[in-house]
Amino acid sequence: MFDIEKIRKDFSILERKIWDDKLLVYLDNAATTQKPKVVINALVEYYENYNANIHRGVHKLAEEATSAYENVRAKVKSFLSCDEASEVIFTRNTTESINLLAYSLGESLNDGDEVLLTEMEHHSNIIPWYLLRGRKKINIKFIPITDQYELDYEKLEKLIVKGTKIISITHKSNVLGTVNDIKKIAKLAKDNGSILIVDAAQSAPHMKINFTDLGCDFLSFSSHKMCGPTGVGVLVGKKELLEKMPPFLGGGEMIRKVTFEDFTLNDVPWKFEAGTPNIADVIAFGVAIEYIQKIGLENIHKHEIELTKYALDKLSKFTFLKIYGSSDASKRAGIITFSNPVVHPHDIATIIDQDGVAIRAGHHCAQPLMKRLGVSATARASFYFYNTEEEIDIFVSVLQKAFDYFEVGACKELKGESKERVSK
Ligand code: ALA
Repeated sequence: MFDIEKIRKDFSILERKIWDDKLLVYLDNAATTQKPKVVINALVEYYENYNANIHRGVHKLAEEATSAYENVRAKVKSFLSCDEASEVIFTRNTTESINLLAYSLGESLNDGDEVLLTEMEHHSNIIPWYLLRGRKKINIKFIPITDQYELDYEKLEKLIVKGTKIISITHKSNVLGTVNDIKKIAKLAKDNGSILIVDAAQSAPHMKINFTDLGCDFLSFSSHKMCGPTGVGVLVGKKELLEKMPPFLGGGEMIRKVTFEDFTLNDVPWKFEAGTPNIADVIAFGVAIEYIQKIGLENIHKHEIELTKYALDKLSKFTFLKIYGSSDASKRAGIITFSNPVVHPHDIATIIDQDGVAIRAGHHCAQPLMKRLGVSATARASFYFYNTEEEIDIFVSVLQKAFDYFEVGACKELKGESKERVSK
């Protein structure tokens, strides 16, 4: 059963007072989520009881730490329904997972090959490909979005051509909340012989994902956006592709044998995990996965759709606000991005922070998308399963205060009359 009051008690930070007397209303979950006590305790437990390096020692502590770390691969396998635990690679974050792919898969690309991205990508799924373009003469193209903030699937079909070797695409936009139809794209990619990479940083924490069913070749996400610690990312990939790819980083653990002349590679996944990994945080991430699974991704998704519906309805009274993304809450669950031409999003975020409400403002690491939307910045509220309707009421009432302060409702520009502000 989804008992929100009970769930909230797991997060001490939600009881925190900001500026002495304002209860924290944390609506910046697309940036990072809060951590339940069980996850924090797992870190303490590791450091107090079995801290040791893994895969190297034969002593008891090393064996305990190795087994706890490796068990998390099995937990990710069950979380994502991929074929084997050995298809799970631990990285630092989604960004590092995509950099790994751009580097290692990039080795097999030739001059003139194409990489297809979308206009709604986070910088982490743009820059690694730009860096690759600095090393190889590849072309990068962007699938446009429609004015309804969805991928333009007709144009997408035309953009996939013989030279399209890689399609790398977000599952859920961190700005619009739009959820892309990965199954449909996977079919197109497969028919064309292209490799499909999915950035699931904003989807995996919020909805049930079945890697095999989605049909993509690689998928990545981050622990910290799903109640786990920072510094842990996941890259899941099809085994036969991972086996063919060269390693990303060199060093200990990724080798089988090293001589004065050469070296041989370790097996997948260790081939991609050079050096001492983030042992404590991976183990605590395993606890976060269990915690999320206990609450249930279906429950999480449902609750977030309800919250989004509720918030969109309340925000509709601000007729001067431009809200980006689908008006159908089920198509953009959990993320509401907005702006208006009078008050800068940073001002909105700063003012409502005075009342303890945390949202994000800025370009959200998606500057090309901002250009497409015709703005330099937006404000964004993003929800998770521990948020409540009462918190949204507080958010809306402090927004009202901010707009009153800037006399936004009385601004002629917003009514399309003139660029001047008028006094109340
Ligand atoms: N990618 C994170 C966000 O959208 C940091 O805020």
